Amino acid sequence: MDLYRDGIAPILFSGLKADPEWLHHQTLNLLGQIELVPGPALALAVRDRLYHTFGFASPALHQTLWGLRFANPVGLAAGFDKDGTAVTLWPCLGFGYAELGTVTSQAQLGNPRPRLFRLRADRAVINRMGFNNRGAATLAAVLQVAAQRRQAMLQALDREHLPPWADAPVGINLGKSKLTPLADAAMDYVISFRQLQPWGDYFVVNVSSPNTPGLRSLQAIDQLAPILAALQNENSLGKPLLVKIAPDLADDDIRELVRLAQQYHLAGIIATNTTLQRSGLQTQAMVPGGYDPQAEAGGLSGAPLANRSTAVIRLIWQEAEGRLPIVGVGGIFTAEDAWEKITAGASLIQVYTGLVYEGPGLIRRVLQGLVDRLHQQGWSHMSQAIGSAHREAV
Ligand SMILES: Cc1cc2nc3c(=O)[nH]c(=O)nc-3n(C[C@H](O)[C@H](O)[C@H](O)COP(=O)(O)O)c2cc1C
Repeated sequence: MDLYRDGIAPILFSGLKADPEWLHHQTLNLLGQIELVPGPALALAVRDRLYHTFGFASPALHQTLWGLRFANPVGLAAGFDKDGTAVTLWPCLGFGYAELGTVTSQAQLGNPRPRLFRLRADRAVINRMGFNNRGAATLAAVLQVAAQRRQAMLQALDREHLPPWADAPVGINLGKSKLTPLADAAMDYVISFRQLQPWGDYFVVNVSSPNTPGLRSLQAIDQLAPILAALQNENSLGKPLLVKIAPDLADDDIRELVRLAQQYHLAGIIATNTTLQRSGLQTQAMVPGGYDPQAEAGGLSGAPLANRSTAVIRLIWQEAEGRLPIVGVGGIFTAEDAWEKITAGASLIQVYTGLVYEGPGLIRRVLQGLVDRLHQQGWSHMSQAIGSAHREAV
């Protein structure tokens, strides 16, 4: 029995039919207030309490990737905390890392509402938010202040070791501002990267959101190459750079992207963003508004995306022969879903829609389930599971 999944969510979703964007704001507002709790001692106590409730630790799940230490492979997917509102709290809820953004060089309001819909019968969401965010300069300022607060907290600490939530990696997902013409996309990404480079542990070039006109066309090799070249040229701190791709690409295009990623020394690929597909959905009337999912624009996420995103992970692994780290995302609700993506080749995974339906208890359940599966296989570390489905298939 999970208080959120079995108690609060059904009331909010079915009984109250609460507006999904309103709920998201309430959640982030609450987390934002906890994030800013004054006084280092209280701030530490709050984080310890949250970690005690939601966290889960196992040495079997530790990884060092791109020189960064991940206490576990489950991350917060981009789009949930676009402006870094709760940047230091995500690891306290059990996440091994969090990806902020998508952030653009210019602040933008995003598309008109309604732009976020729940498809409860499908355990899915459709969104056409359109990169609503406060802009790269504001995110840089937020992260600078968060770093100072973290410093003050850790100075107040009289413990020998850092608490387990204290040094989780933070990724920053970069997008193109809507007003910037596609032809100037490289410069737009570079402007954001310049301001944010010191504040992120890894960076993601998002060319796969369906909600900025033309953005997905930047996945074409001749469009993406100059963006990657410009960003690597700017990458004086040697930050790991990844690209996030759409599930709707043809397999041959994905193979080409893998080769491009290797050519530009990318650290990995994030697979995948939301899909434009609508096949097999049961929902006929979405919340809010009762709109028909077949007729509404936007990206579909959650359970209906799971198989395709795992297939994309498999394809990338095969094309790169396991030599390019993959971050798997799309429809993870259970440890079994996570295991499928890891054994298909994902070194790290992320969740968004699962968190909406399952609440924060999801993270611990997934982590515990992963450790159980490792034991069942007689394996001591998750590195043995990554891509293992390909070895079995041979
Ligand atoms: C409301 C919403 C907003 C999102 N915003 C972004 C975004 O700004 N940037 C991005 O790269 N992905 C964004 N995504 C996509 C997620 O990061 C993820 O790739 C996708 O939802 C699949 O994972 P899921 O099935 O666990 O939700 C968003 C998804 C949702 C549901």
